[in-house]
Amino acid sequence: MEKRIITTAVTAEDEIIAESIRPETMAGYIGQNEVKIKLAICIEAAKKRNEALDHVLLSGPPGLGKTTLAHIIANEMGVYIRTTSGPVIERKADLAGLLTEMKEGDVLFIDEIHRLNRVVEECLYPAMEDFFFDILIGEGPHAKSVKIDIPRFTLVGATTRSGMLTGPMRDRFGIQCRLNFYEPEDIKLILNRSARILKIPFDPEGVEELAHRSRRTPRVANRLLRRVRDYAQVRSDGKITKSVAQEALELLEIDHRGLDQMDRQILTTIAVKFGGGPVGLRTIAVALGEDEGTLEEVYEPFLIQEGLLNRTPSGRMLTPAAYAHIGLAAPQKSGVPHELFDLDS
Ligand code: ADE
Repeated sequence: MEKRIITTAVTAEDEIIAESIRPETMAGYIGQNEVKIKLAICIEAAKKRNEALDHVLLSGPPGLGKTTLAHIIANEMGVYIRTTSGPVIERKADLAGLLTEMKEGDVLFIDEIHRLNRVVEECLYPAMEDFFFDILIGEGPHAKSVKIDIPRFTLVGATTRSGMLTGPMRDRFGIQCRLNFYEPEDIKLILNRSARILKIPFDPEGVEELAHRSRRTPRVANRLLRRVRDYAQVRSDGKITKSVAQEALELLEIDHRGLDQMDRQILTTIAVKFGGGPVGLRTIAVALGEDEGTLEEVYEPFLIQEGLLNRTPSGRMLTPAAYAHIGLAAPQKSGVPHELFDLDS
């Protein structure tokens, strides 16, 4: 099995920088205009009524700014935010602890909300709907269920897998927003903003080059910006020009469409091992030695968005554009699915 090379490692310092360049207001948040308008109206209305904002569900691929938006929501509402994530809330008591510490109107942000366990999820329903929490006092036949009132809070849930949320959970979010990949022009604005905040000298052509290779994703854009800055400081005079960006990105194995080594490996594996598909996700994951969830949540959305991969009922299929991108000839299809190898069925 070929070893995956992490070409764009994230350090603790990266995380600190990422925090420092996050916009704090709706006005500073670039792109996602429909989402921004929808949220801004709901926020203004809730403030006028002097009420907590309705619960908000933010869904979409990783890195598009769901966490950033949750912080902006709290900031615009003028309330505190507590952040946690689905898998961290293991027991009912963990949730009780979080909810009872909240103040009226505060935001509870649960990232990866699709990974909450069932017991915790069911305790969340009455908390979201009627602002109470049921606890059991005592044990055995003498145990008594007691209702505890909790402050009217706003739950902001984020998920990369909205399809994995249960119906009852999804229905309890009064405001639902789906984030889409950014327009390259918006990525350029985000990079300009970040470069100014981080005091990185750049040419417009350098930023343009970065923007086109950032998977239409702010997190990727900002990460590449930091890596290209490193390269510019070591191999050049510190300024991000077009040629500096091209050289650095080549070193990072990020091609002109923004695909990295793993993306190309996915496409090549489907082409070479599975005749271009259709082939099941699990089969691809086994062939690559990669986690199915990571393939589905992290890599596939961009490959699909770019028109390189299709999800069909019988499996994943490469498009002619994918063959062109990896420099292979597209086969004359027989249309026979790779059922024999397909572990999904
Ligand atoms: N940083 C990350 N996402 C951003 C966005 N949408 N606008 C501005 N800066 C960002």
